[in-house]
Amino acid sequence: MKESKLNEIHDEARKNNIPLMKDDGMDFLIHYLEKHENIRDILEIGTAVGYSAIRMAQVRWDMRIDTLEVNPEMYEQALENIADAELSDRITCWLGDGAQFETEKKYDLIFVDAAKSQYRRYMEHFMRNSLPGTVFIFDNLAFHGIVDDNSISHNRSTVQMVHKILKFREHLLKDERFETIYYPDTGDGIAVAKRIK
Ligand SMILES: C[S@@+](CC[C@H](N)C(=O)[O-])C[C@H]1O[C@@H](n2cnc3c(N)ncnc32)[C@H](O)[C@@H]1O
Repeated sequence: MKESKLNEIHDEARKNNIPLMKDDGMDFLIHYLEKHENIRDILEIGTAVGYSAIRMAQVRWDMRIDTLEVNPEMYEQALENIADAELSDRITCWLGDGAQFETEKKYDLIFVDAAKSQYRRYMEHFMRNSLPGTVFIFDNLAFHGIVDDNSISHNRSTVQMVHKILKFREHLLKDERFETIYYPDTGDGIAVAKRIK
């Protein structure tokens, strides 16, 4: 896919307030994939319009991506964008709640970028699709800075969400099954958790 077309998908999504990963977070993810040449099979939870899946698939020709999206309109748009990018043979989209997705496959990388309140659920659900060495990457653990500054929000549901994200982040950093590095200032707060047992 030409870079101009990819930029078009990006700009159109931003214009329509589709919550793509922040640009510096995306750069971080791509750089991580470039550095880790062993990564071939990727699971993404939260396709939106397929932008991050397309960017990831472009890193190496032998990467295969399964990506999960619950919103039918996003899903349809993602299918179109992925077909335009001529990547339908390597990116498979699935419509439905990510936590209901069942497969026997094991992935090298599991990228979680969907409903923030469900991160713990996704993590436990997809443990069966990981092996020691599999890396989970979680975005949005800073929740646009709100997690670290509770005074910003007076809205009850936001406070609940913040609380859930904080709890998940604390849990992840203590979870002995993983070696986790948290990057608070990258993207919207990114954690890279490598399964070690
Ligand atoms: C932050 S966006 C994903 C952005 C995309 N990864 C990118 O950077 O191009 C989150 C997406 O997750 C989807 N989503 C929310 N809950 C979900 C769930 N339970 N299962 C699958 N997708 C979900 C939303 O509809 C939304 O499109």
